[in-house]
Amino acid sequence: MTTTQRVLLAVCGGIAAYKAAELTRLLRKQGAQVRIAMTASAQQFVSPLTFQALSGHPVATDLLDASQENAMGHINLAKWADTLVVAPATANSLAKFSHGLADDLVSTLYLAATCPLYLAPAMNQAMWHKAVTQDNIARLKQQGAIIIGPEQGDQACGDTGLGRMAEPAAICQQLFNTAPPVDGLLHGLTVLISAGPTREPLDPVRYLTNRSSGKMGYALAAAAVQAGAKVTLVSGPVALTAPAYSEVITVESAAQMCHAVLAKAAQADIYIGAAAVADYTPSTVFTNKFKKQGDETSLSLQKTQDILASVAALTPAPFTVGFAAETNDLENYALDKLARKKVDMIAANWVGQQYGGFDSEQNALQVYWHNGQQHLAMTDKTKLAAQLIALIATRWHEKNTT
Ligand code: PMT
Repeated sequence: MTTTQRVLLAVCGGIAAYKAAELTRLLRKQGAQVRIAMTASAQQFVSPLTFQALSGHPVATDLLDASQENAMGHINLAKWADTLVVAPATANSLAKFSHGLADDLVSTLYLAATCPLYLAPAMNQAMWHKAVTQDNIARLKQQGAIIIGPEQGDQACGDTGLGRMAEPAAICQQLFNTAPPVDGLLHGLTVLISAGPTREPLDPVRYLTNRSSGKMGYALAAAAVQAGAKVTLVSGPVALTAPAYSEVITVESAAQMCHAVLAKAAQADIYIGAAAVADYTPSTVFTNKFKKQGDETSLSLQKTQDILASVAALTPAPFTVGFAAETNDLENYALDKLARKKVDMIAANWVGQQYGGFDSEQNALQVYWHNGQQHLAMTDKTKLAAQLIALIATRWHEKNTT
């Protein structure tokens, strides 16, 4: 998408409608011309006046309003757009779009539009998981619509789960497909990143896992792309949208992650192990569901292969960056990992109830390398990732020019 494009933003009725105001601002900041259409229920959440002020144009609200039709009729509005974005796209609007219903302005615009169609769903997690919604999403994808999100998190109704609208910045990035710079800090380099948790199967229905959301690793992948790198992300099971311009390989278990990382490591200049890989996996995976027996039972676990140490032991090895997630003695454990796993850098973070780290929006890092360290203060994982990538780039260039 170029910066002169005409974006028609259709806002449907959900609490996430307020985020569409920020999206309008960001789209204009990118240089896009923005026109807004709202459903009747969207106007219950945010006033058309807000969008008029932000877009600089009257807001289309009615299908059969003679004055609006004279200004720019709905068919002309659909023809005007280079891109149609529906954000938030409610379950109801998705159902209408997927079945070709056109009983209000937004559904009519959707049906009339011949430009690329982007949908940012937002709804309660149970509504998102309902088979009928998933069928509608699958049909819309087949028809060529691009679905952005939804994301995992706390919902206005009090539930937690998948259904939050993607953040305006993420939608904007996907729309503009922000091209990686040709002169970034990591231009010409290949970066391999692991992210998220692993799942270690116990029987056909149970597994051992941890609280990693993948946010740190995904933010690093996006930051590496923005630094100009060619990025491969090996991801455990998470509920995040793949960063633009990266290759994503999805895995479940530590063994699968190890296999995928080692298959790519030889072509990588830099490896960043941000995944929370299980240290142990059940020694036996039961073929049938493990049955309740007595009041106590025990599990036999065996060590998984250390992916980080295996990558660092390759010849030649990429510049290898590990993480250390600690609840105590952060510095000692981090320095021990730096030496024992023979890596170039360790990014250590406090984890646990009082610190976050896992499954939180923010994080802080104490980064160690041989003869040096730097503190990266608590901030959003996206900002922190950009800082860590800049530090890695500096260390990589130092190592490879001396
Ligand atoms: O995903 P988020 O919710 O955003 O949370 C981010 C995070 C807390 C998961 C992340 O910042 C982090 O600390 N990731 C590493 C978690 C971890 O497993 O730390 P560790 O100290 O147990 O492991 C040390 C290093 O060895 C890590 O780089 C890990 O990827 C690697 N490892 C561990 C075991 C194994 N079998 N293979 C490995 O490569």
